[in-house]
Amino acid sequence: MKEKDGMLINPDLSGRNINLRLLFSVLYCILWSVALFGLNASAQESARTLKKVDDWCRECHGKEKKLYENSIHNKFGVSCIDCHGGDSKHADKETAMCPIAGFKPKLSKKDIVELCASCHNDEQMMTPYGLLTNQYDLYRISIHGQRLFEKGDTNVAICVDCHVTHAMMKPSDPRSLVYPTNVPKTCAQCHADEKLMKPYEIPTDQYDKFVGSIHGDALLKRGLTRGVPQCATCHGNHGAAPPGVQDVSKICGQCHPNERDNFNKSPHREAVDKGEMTECDSCHNKHDIAKPTLELFDTSCGKDNCHEKNSDEFALGQQIKSLIIKANDTLDNARQIIKDAESAGAYTTQYEFTIDEAHTNIQQVSSRTHSLNKSEIGEYTAKAITASDSVKKDIDEHFKSLRIRKVGLGIVWVFVLATVVALYLRKRRADQEWQNRLALELSEGPAPSTGSGEALERSEGIDSGDSR
Ligand code: HEC
Ligand code: HEC
Ligand code: HEC
Ligand code: HEC
Ligand code: HEC
Ligand code: HEC
Ligand code: HEC
Ligand code: HEC
Repeated sequence: MKEKDGMLINPDLSGRNINLRLLFSVLYCILWSVALFGLNASAQESARTLKKVDDWCRECHGKEKKLYENSIHNKFGVSCIDCHGGDSKHADKETAMCPIAGFKPKLSKKDIVELCASCHNDEQMMTPYGLLTNQYDLYRISIHGQRLFEKGDTNVAICVDCHVTHAMMKPSDPRSLVYPTNVPKTCAQCHADEKLMKPYEIPTDQYDKFVGSIHGDALLKRGLTRGVPQCATCHGNHGAAPPGVQDVSKICGQCHPNERDNFNKSPHREAVDKGEMTECDSCHNKHDIAKPTLELFDTSCGKDNCHEKNSDEFALGQQIKSLIIKANDTLDNARQIIKDAESAGAYTTQYEFTIDEAHTNIQQVSSRTHSLNKSEIGEYTAKAITASDSVKKDIDEHFKSLRIRKVGLGIVWVFVLATVVALYLRKRRADQEWQNRLALELSEGPAPSTGSGEALERSEGIDSGDSR
C-alpha cells in the first residue's frame, strides 16, 4: 500500500468541528480498545508487515520526520508505528497516540533493545535482507547486555547509543556512528567519560591511547578503513567484552598470523596457558600499540619482573637483539656503500635485488623473534649478512678494477705525450739541418740571375721567423 492512498481523514483542526472531533476520537479510541482486546495478536502481526501509512505522525513530529527521512528503515518501508505503535491514519493526538491502539508511551532502555530485537532477531523477516540475526543474542551476553538485563544498569550502551534512534544508517555509510572511523568516538562518548565510568573503576584512557597507536594512526590519520582494527574489531560489534586472556592472540592473530604462529611455538605459550602472562598485549600493550623497536628487548623482557637482568632468559633476548642489530648494521653499511658508489658515478642498479633479499631476510626475523628460537633467527640474520657482504665485496672489486684501469690509462697518456715530444724534437732538428744546409749553399756560390728576389724573400722569411 502506498503511503498516500486517500485513507486519511481531513486535518481540519480549526473552529467548530473541534468538539465533534474530540467526541469522535474518544469514541474511536473506545471502539479500538474493544476491537483490539479480541484482535491483539493479529494487530501485532500486521505491525510486522511493514506497510504502514504514517503521514499524521510525521505531520506533527517534524523533527523526527526530518531525521527519519534518510534512514535505512524509512528506505525499506519501516514506519513510525512499527516501532511506536498507535494509529497513523488519524490527525488528532488522542486517537493517533491512543495506548489501546498499541501506542507505547515511554520506552525504557530494556524495551528499546527488545523492540529492535523484535525484528532483528526474527530470521524470517531478516533473511530477505541478508542480515544476520545474532545481534540481540550477542548483546545479551556482552558486559553491556549483562549489566542492563541482570543489574538494571542503564549507563551501558544499548542499540540506539551505537546506531542512533531515527537517523539510522547502514554501517557502511560514513554518516553511521558505527562506520569504522566513527566507532572510536562512539565508544568514547561513555568510555572516556570519567564521571560515568567512576563507579566501575575501569580506565578511561582507551580512546586517547588508541588515537596515538599505530592502528589509530592508520585508521584516523591515514583513513585506512580496511584491515585496520578499531574498538569493535577487537571487542566485537555486539558482544562487547574485553577479550579474555586466551583470546588476545586469536584477535591479533587474524591480522598478524606469522607473529601468532611463532608465538605459539615459543615457551611463552606455556606461560600463557599457566596464566603467568597474557599474550600479545603483555609486550605490545592493548590500546597504545606502538611501532616496535629493538628497545622492546630491554623493556619488555624485564617488565613487571618477568625476567631478572642476570637471568638466562633475559640474556637470550639480548643475544637475539644483537643478531638483529648486526644484520641491520651490515645492511645499512651495504646501502651506504651503494650510495657512495652512485655518487662516484658507478652503475648500481644490479645490487638492488641483493639488498632486497637481505632486507626480506631481516623482515622474516621480526616475526620469528616471537618463537625465541635463536638458531632459526641466526639462520636468517646470517643470510642477510651474506647478501649485504656480497654487495660490499662486488663494489669493492668494481672500484679496485677501476683503479687498475686508471693506472693503465695514465701510462698510455705518458707514452702518447712522450711520443709527441719526441716527434716535435725530431722535426725541430730536421728544420735546423735544412737551414744550415741553405745557409751553406748561399755562402758557397753567387745568386742565380732569375728568381733571386724569390730566394731573398725566402731567406728573409726564414730570418724573420728565426728572430721571432
Ligand atoms: C496532532 C499531532 C500529533 C500526532 C498526529 C501524533 N503526535 Fe506524537 N506527540 C504529539 C505531541 C504534542 C507530543 C508531546 C507529548 C504529549 O503531549 O504526550 C507527542 C509525543 C509523542 C511521543 C513521545 C511520547 C512520550 O511518552 O514521550 C512519541 C513517541 C510520539 N508522539 C509518537 C507518535 C506517533 C508514532 C504518531 C503516529 C501514530 C504520533 N506521535 C502522532 C503530537 C502528535
Ligand atoms: C526503528 C524504530 C523507530 C522508528 C521507525 C521510529 N522511532 Fe521514534 N523512537 C524510537 C525509540 C527507540 C525512541 C526512544 C529513544 C530514547 O528514549 O532514546 C523514539 C523516540 C521518539 C520520540 C520521542 C522523542 C523524545 O525526545 O522523547 C518521538 C516524538 C518519536 N520517536 C517519533 C517518531 C516518528 C514521528 C517516527 C516516524 C517518522 C518514528 N519516531 C520512527 C524508535 C523509533
Ligand atoms: C519493524 C521491524 C524493525 C525494527 C523494529 C527495527 N528494524 Fe532495523 N531494520 C529493519 C529492516 C527491514 C531493515 C532493512 C534491512 C537492510 O538494511 O537491508 C533494517 C535495517 C537496520 C540496520 C542497517 C543494517 C544493514 O547493515 O543494512 C540497522 C543498523 C538497524 N536496522 C538497527 C535497528 C535498531 C538499532 C533498531 C531498534 C531501535 C531497529 N533496527 C529496529 C527492520 C526493523
Ligand atoms: C556498543 C555498540 C553497539 C551496540 C550496543 C549495538 N550495536 Fe549493532 N553494530 C555495532 C557495530 C560496531 C556494527 C558493525 C559495523 C560494521 O559492520 O562495520 C553493528 C552492526 C549492526 C547491524 C548490521 C548487521 C551486522 O550484524 O553487522 C545491525 C542490524 C545491528 N548492528 C543491530 C543492532 C541491534 C538490534 C542492537 C541491540 C540489540 C545493536 N545493534 C547494538 C555496534 C553496536
Ligand atoms: C552509552 C555508554 C556506552 C557506550 C556508547 C559504550 N559503552 Fe562499553 N560500557 C559502558 C558501561 C557503563 C560499561 C560497564 C563497565 C563495567 O562493567 O566495567 C561498559 C563496559 C564495557 C566493556 C567491559 C569493561 C570491563 O572490563 O568491565 C567493554 C570492553 C566495553 N564496554 C567496550 C565498548 C566498546 C568497544 C564500545 C563501542 C563500540 C562501547 N563499549 C560503547 C558504557 C558504554
Ligand atoms: C587491537 C585490539 C584492541 C582495540 C583496537 C581496542 N581494544 Fe580495548 N582492549 C583490548 C584488550 C586486549 C584488552 C584487555 C583484555 C584483557 O585484559 O582481558 C582491552 C580492554 C578494554 C577495556 C577494559 C578496561 C581496560 O582498559 O582494560 C575497555 C573498556 C576497552 N578495552 C575499550 C576499548 C575502546 C573504547 C576502544 C576504542 C577506542 C578499544 N578498546 C580498542 C584490545 C583492543
Ligand atoms: C583488523 C586487523 C588487525 C588487528 C585485529 C590487529 N592489527 Fe596490528 N596492525 C594492523 C595493520 C593494518 C597494521 C599496520 C598499520 C600501518 O599501516 O601502520 C598493524 C600494525 C601493528 C604493529 C606494528 C607493526 C609494524 O611493523 O610497525 C603491531 C606491533 C601490531 N599491529 C600489534 C597488534 C596487536 C598486539 C594486536 C592485538 C591486540 C593487533 N595488532 C591487532 C592490523 C591489525
Ligand atoms: C615477549 C614479548 C612479545 C610478545 C608476547 C609479543 N611480541 Fe610482538 N614483538 C616483540 C618484539 C621484541 C618485536 C620487535 C622485533 C623486531 O623488531 O625484530 C615485536 C614485533 C612485532 C610486530 C612487528 C613485526 C614486523 O614485521 O615489524 C608485530 C606485528 C607483532 N610483534 C605482533 C605481535 C602479536 C600479534 C603478538 C601475539 C601473538 C605478539 N607480537 C607478542 C615482542 C613481543
